[in-house]
Parts: sequence; structure tokens; C-alpha cells
Amino acid sequence: MTDPRPLAAIILAAGQGTRMKSSRHKVLHPIAHKPMLLHLLDSLAALAPQRTVVVVGSLREQVEAAVAGRGVTVAVQSPQLGTGHAALQAKDALAGFDGDIVVMFGDTPLVGSATIARLRAELTDAVAAVVLAFRPDDPAAYGRVIASDGVIRKMVEFKDATPAERAETLCNSGLLLVRAADLWPLLARVSNDNAAGEYYLPDVISLLIGDGRTARVIETDPHEVAGVNSRAELAAMEARWQDRRRAAAMADGVTLIDPASVFLAHDTVIDRDVTIEPFVVFGPGVRIASGTTIRANSHVEGAEIGPDCDIGPFARLRPGTVLGAGAKIGNFVETKKAVFGAGAKANHLSYIGDATVGARANIGAGTITCNYDGFFKYRTVIGEAAFIGSNSALVAPVSIGDGAIVAAGSTVTADVSADALALVRPAQTEKPGWAAHFRARQAAKKGK
Ligand code: UD1
Ligand code: MG
Repeated sequence: MTDPRPLAAIILAAGQGTRMKSSRHKVLHPIAHKPMLLHLLDSLAALAPQRTVVVVGSLREQVEAAVAGRGVTVAVQSPQLGTGHAALQAKDALAGFDGDIVVMFGDTPLVGSATIARLRAELTDAVAAVVLAFRPDDPAAYGRVIASDGVIRKMVEFKDATPAERAETLCNSGLLLVRAADLWPLLARVSNDNAAGEYYLPDVISLLIGDGRTARVIETDPHEVAGVNSRAELAAMEARWQDRRRAAAMADGVTLIDPASVFLAHDTVIDRDVTIEPFVVFGPGVRIASGTTIRANSHVEGAEIGPDCDIGPFARLRPGTVLGAGAKIGNFVETKKAVFGAGAKANHLSYIGDATVGARANIGAGTITCNYDGFFKYRTVIGEAAFIGSNSALVAPVSIGDGAIVAAGSTVTADVSADALALVRPAQTEKPGWAAHFRARQAAKKGK
């Protein structure tokens, strides 16, 4: 499906974000481990905009770094004279662009691509602009959209509104769609003669209505256009995002025993018939294939988990973990850049990092891959069906052959051949009767 009219986007993000009390730009605070701004850019990506401009005030470098490689232009608005003035700062970056322009707020990150597509569908020959509105439980100080049958009669900021206008419940989300050919001349006409002394973006709508043209409004769920101004609002938005994703995962056939205690990341992919026990947290970059169980209190990040694996409880899978079919990672096991073959197991109390573990190998309790000398990292290779005895230290770089056995308590510093036994510990000696003799002597001493 190709849209005949090209699209550009302006994302306004020059506000101070004072209430976040942060040295990080407001739009770079994450929801589900992804900066708010990138949520918006990803929604936009579905509509393939030709150009995207982000308008910032301060902290330009942070925003530029975050959008690097995405073909986004960053423009600066200084000083910040209002949303209309902010949109105008994108004009140079959009020079020569002739199509639809969607203006969005960077701190309203969860607007979906379907909603932007709805706006586009409303922008017909007879319609000059489309505004996205919502009806919140408390309309508070939002700008009001006064409309009938979807046709806007007036847009008014709360500060400038009459009591009757304030009684209206349809609120401006800030998001609007207008043609480039109309936007720039309209913005040039916007004045700051109002209660706030600011150049209001919504004034472009009032101006075009005054010109006898038509602007329409469409409504969406208040949650979709919720903004983030404080850490508390960030947490509230995260909570709603998590609820939605948990519901979607369950609808897709994932069992969450206690959904509220499972935290997903923006890119978590979970196949059907996976079971996730309570208190499991996912960082970014996780894929889980069907039939796997993740037991309680596990933390999983950057991991590719094959079908039918058994993870946890209390497992920590770090980035670069790849588990083959039926692998088992048990309690208090940490893995990092570790590739486990099918059916390999590390069931208790281990650190396996920078390692390859062959299919069906068994890693005993307390095994440590000593992968770091304070300067460099080294690899450990464990062969298929090898058996690593409990409390072994494998000092990398080292490789254990297929089918080899490492005796418990070994500190292995040299490669072990396939099917060999490596036993690296002092031979056991025994002194008959020594313990009884020792106790008798000490007791006598204490008795004196
Ligand atoms: C704005 C709308 C209001 C709407 C509300 C929805 C205007 C005049 N008012 O009000 O109708 O109901 O959002 O949340 O548009 N920004 C800049 N430069 C500026 C000022 C703002 O880039 O000079 C950016 C902010 O970073 C933010 C967005 O524009 O992303 C909205 O600014 P904000 O100050 O929150 O506007 P509101 O007063 O909430
Ligand atoms: Mg606001």
C-alpha cells in the first residue's frame, strides 16, 4: 500500500523538562528500556516519513547521539517561545518538502502508528488539517477542542478559555497533521497575543478556520496521548506499557503466573507455551522459544533461549547468552557471552562467561570460568557431553575435550583431551585416630 502523499514529522522537545529533575534530556528517559523519543520514531517508521526533525532546546548533543543513524535532523529552538514557534524551527530542515507534516510532542511517546495513519486518512481534499484529541477523566488545564460532528469550530488554550469553553471535555493532544504548503504560512501568522504570551501551535487551526477552511478532529484513548513530565508520570506510563504487553503476551499463548510481577522490555519476544513464574525481569534483547519455563526471581537480558529450556529460579542470564534446546540453567547461575548446546546443564551456583558449552555437557555446582585477568577476557570451550566436577575453576583460555571429566575441586589451567580425566587437586592423606586424639588433648587443656 503506497500513500501518494509523502510524510514528514516534527517532534517538539524543546521544553525544559524541569520537573524531571534530570541532567538527561526528558525525551531520552526510557519506557521499557527504550528512550521515549525512540518509541515515537519507531511508530513513525511504520509510515516511512521522508524526513523527521526533532526540535530541542538544550542538550542537543544527547538527542543527536540517541538518534544517530536514523536520518533524523535535530533543530534548536532558543529561546522557547511556545509550541508554534518551536514547530517553525523545523522549517529550514524541511525546505523543499511538499507533503503532509505531522507535528508531535516528544514527551507523548506512546502514540501508535495506527493513530497517525487515521489522521492521514482524514486529511482529504476538503480538509486542511486534522487534530488528535482525547477526553481525559480530568480535563484540567489542557487546551480545548470545540467541535461538532468532527469539525473543529475553535481551539483554545485553558488560560484563554471562557468558563463555557473550559466546560468542554474534548482536549487537544498536541498532535496534528497539516500540509507543508499550509503550515509555514500559517505559522508565520501566529502571534503571541494571548494569556501566556506564547506562540501557540493550535492557533494554526483557528487561523485556517478563520480563512473559511475545514479542520477535523479525531479522538483517541487518553492513555495513548498521555505525557510524561515527572518521574511519577514516567513510572505510571511504564506501568501502563507493562500491563499492555503482559496482556498481549498472554493473548499470544504465554503463561504468566503473576503478570504484575513480570517486567518485559520493548523488544522481548516470547513464543507460545512459555511459562514465566513470578518476579522475572527482562532487559533488552531477549527471545524465548516455546516450551521454556523461566522460574521465579530470574533476570534475563540479551539472551536467545531455545525451546524447552528450564531457567532458574534465581538465574541471571546476561547479554550474549544463547541456550540450545532443552538446556538447563539453575539457581544462582550467572551466564554471559555463553553458548550452551542442546541439553547442556549448569544447575547450581556457577559463573559461565565467554564460554561455549557443548551439547549435553554437565557443569557441576560452583564451577567458575575464570575469564578475566584484570585486562583482557579469555574464552573457555567445553566439549560435548563433558562433565565438570563441582567447585572447579576453569582458567581461560582453556578447552575441555568432548566427553572429558574434570574432577571436583580442580583448578584447570591446561587443555584437557577428549574422554580424559583431569584431576587437579592434592592427593588425599589420612591420619588414623588423629581427630579423636586432638579432641581429647584440647578438652583436657580446657578443663585445667
Ligand atoms: C500543549 C498544548 C495544549 C495541549 C497540551 C497537551 C499548546 C499551546 N498547547 O500545552 O493545547 O492540550 O499540550 O499536552 O500547544 N515545546 C517546545 N518549545 C516551546 C514550548 C513547548 O518544544 O517553546 C514542546 C515541549 O517540549 C513539549 C510540547 O512542546 O514536548 C508541549 O509543550 P508543553 O509546554 O507541555 O505544552 P502544554 O502547556 O502542556
Ligand atoms: Mg504539557
